[in-house]
Amino acid sequence: MEKITLSANAKINLYLRVSGIREDGYHLLKTVMQEISLADTLELEKIPFGIAIVCTKPQIPLNEKNLCHKAAKAYLDAAGIEGGVKIKLIKAIPDGAGMGGGSSDAAAVLKAMKVLYPSDTDLFSLAEKIGADVPFFLEGGTCLCEGIGEVLTPISFPDKKTLFCVIAKPKEGLSTPKIFGLFDEMAKNEMQENFLDLPALFASKNLSALFENMKNDLELPAVFLLPKIAECKEALLLCGADAAMMTGSGSAVFGLFSSEEKARKAAFSIRENGIESHFCTLL
Ligand code: C5P
Repeated sequence: MEKITLSANAKINLYLRVSGIREDGYHLLKTVMQEISLADTLELEKIPFGIAIVCTKPQIPLNEKNLCHKAAKAYLDAAGIEGGVKIKLIKAIPDGAGMGGGSSDAAAVLKAMKVLYPSDTDLFSLAEKIGADVPFFLEGGTCLCEGIGEVLTPISFPDKKTLFCVIAKPKEGLSTPKIFGLFDEMAKNEMQENFLDLPALFASKNLSALFENMKNDLELPAVFLLPKIAECKEALLLCGADAAMMTGSGSAVFGLFSSEEKARKAAFSIRENGIESHFCTLL
């Protein structure tokens, strides 16, 4: 195959607690990641050599800093293949949002490279080196992610088909290392050692228990830096969300709705108030 088009879905974190800090400064997590329908589109085409990236968003770097570039290079190096790729990146996932946009793009590039340049290279071991969230996007669905995010356990979440998700994203994005740094200053002492049985909670078909237990340890430092996050959360709840929380290291907030109509109206009314908003389903 010479050319391939694929989508790269975003994620939300339905639960995120920091359980420890590694010697290299990375944070150990207990997080449940959920793939959602909001997606970037990638078109990849074989070229004789080099990695060329074009993107619909001007602020996205097109050089080695781009996770798509890292993924393509990691694959060609590991598979020992002489060849190149042209990548067209059509962005829909907001950046600086905590929705894993760059990591999902990188996972999509790994999958596409394997189709364009078949080899027996293990994509998971490459994914881990590109970023903590990249392995999740190879797996997708609903996963309990531990370690720094790379130790995956797919979990059952039967209620996800009955829920609708609305994203509200403040104009300002947040930097993941900055939010983890601020967590260390503000909340390190409150780190927990005992955690809920998350696979049981998600499998239980008890949505009120799930909503009550939703928690993101990074929300406190993120709201401290960007109070608009709290306003977005409030707006989602006022529109009838059953629960609302920041995703990942922010700045996007999601609301979960059991009514599709309410969710669609919420996305519309939040957009009317000048805030980026998306209606999504859980995959
Ligand atoms: O792995 P990734 O490049 O997505 O992480 C970006 C930064 O976020 C890391 O350099 C680190 O500062 C912080 N981070 C962390 N603990 C994690 C994941 C990320 O401290 N589990």
